[in-house]
Amino acid sequence: MVLTAEAQQYDVVIIGGGPGGYAAALYGGNAGLNVAMVEKEKVGGTCLHRGCIPAKEFLETANVLRTVAGAKEFGIQSEQPSVDFSVSQARKQKVVDTLWKGLQGLLKRRKVTTYIGTGSLGPDHTVAVTGPDGAHTLLTGRHVILASGSVPRTIPGFDVDGRYVLTSDEVLALDRLPASAVVIGGGAIGCEFASMMSDLGTQVTVLEALPKMLPGCDKDVVDVVARSFKKRGIEVRTGVNVTGHTPNDKGTTVHFGEGEHVDVDLVVVSVGRRPLSDGLLLPGTKVEVDQRGFVVIDDHQRTGEAGVYAVGDLVATPALAHVGFAEAIVVIKDILGEPVVPVDYGKVPWCIYCHPEVAFAGMSEEVAVEAGLDVVVKKDPFVGNGRALILGDPEGMVKVIAEKGPDGGVARILGVHMVGPWVTELLGQGYLAVNWEATPAEVGQYIQPHPTLSEVFGETVLALAGRGLHA
Ligand code: NAI
Repeated sequence: MVLTAEAQQYDVVIIGGGPGGYAAALYGGNAGLNVAMVEKEKVGGTCLHRGCIPAKEFLETANVLRTVAGAKEFGIQSEQPSVDFSVSQARKQKVVDTLWKGLQGLLKRRKVTTYIGTGSLGPDHTVAVTGPDGAHTLLTGRHVILASGSVPRTIPGFDVDGRYVLTSDEVLALDRLPASAVVIGGGAIGCEFASMMSDLGTQVTVLEALPKMLPGCDKDVVDVVARSFKKRGIEVRTGVNVTGHTPNDKGTTVHFGEGEHVDVDLVVVSVGRRPLSDGLLLPGTKVEVDQRGFVVIDDHQRTGEAGVYAVGDLVATPALAHVGFAEAIVVIKDILGEPVVPVDYGKVPWCIYCHPEVAFAGMSEEVAVEAGLDVVVKKDPFVGNGRALILGDPEGMVKVIAEKGPDGGVARILGVHMVGPWVTELLGQGYLAVNWEATPAEVGQYIQPHPTLSEVFGETVLALAGRGLHA
């Protein structure tokens, strides 16, 4: 490899400009560290360009269509709405580009030097950068943060060809939605795409290998989503294996289960993501990678090589942008020698933006029982909530799981699980309650404004504390 003259020296060199990487750059820059970040495409990563932001933008498009279609109920006369997805696509791109520009400005203001190219870690904290034109640059950092992220996993028999078989990367770039689609995998991405495409007029079939969709979510929450999907005509087949597909003139035939098949225009593969550690490590470092490709870390995000850290989807922790942010903060504090509170992965907030939305923090009822805990559970539906009825969206509920105290009373809140209108925005209080290990009585003494959707959480907690108001 031919390298340009002297290595550039930094306090911190970050490989990967997604949420994990750019959060470390911004937080480190804010603390006065001299930071370089290497990104092979655009800063913002999967979340901004091929994940969270574009997906939620399209889900909002679906929401607007549902609102207009339901306007008659409010006495508002409008024509039957239809979707011009190319306009939706352009709007999505505008949102993404605005955030991208904002992020670049922020990085500049924090004096972060961004190198566009592919970075690899070598010995002694050196990072070799290969630019798009093939030019090489060598950087060294007192500390190095690996944050190269993840890519969609694929499965045998479904090669991603951009025509019949797509992953989230390609779906988010479509300018026309198909008339019919199979979604393989009913996890967070699968449910968000199934919900969005169905609401925008695609006939959707979800094929999930496990007995239930949305693994990791509380069973009662999954049941609400499954009922809603069924009512809206989304066919969900669980406990089935897909074996392959046969393209034809019009689309493709997907084979699954015991000799079953479905003819569709398009297949979306959403069976998880894998860490992007290929080519990241040159020989001569002590950074360890496990069999699945995840970089191995301790609870301070430290790898086996002193001074080298890893964050985000590259490590085997929940693949969520906000977890990447939190891990980045842990790293910068550790570099600065400040006290660090490691991320408590069992209590991070989860938000899934399908319709109805799902949000939770802490243990599901199944997990708490499996852990041998004696639990008390309360559920309160949105159907009795004034604001939910005003919105015309009363589907869903809040479920709170608490531990029984030694005196038989109700002790700390273990989990808060929500499904329904705007729950991704309502989770905050539940998240704090779980992480502060508050009891229902402690939380229940605080007031919820009326009329709001948040009253359902307040009611559930009051009921758990022994005496409900409305619930
Ligand atoms: P996932 O792991 O959440 O779900 C994948 C699903 O595919 C599972 O239900 C699994 O049982 C199923 N599956 C695996 N192989 C299969 C096969 N051969 N046939 C049928 N089903 C199969 O992964 P997903 O949804 O792709 O998301 C990837 C990551 O991105 C997740 O870790 C998730 O945390 C994150 N994410 C989070 C979002 C959110 O929180 N709103 C949104 C999108 C992604």
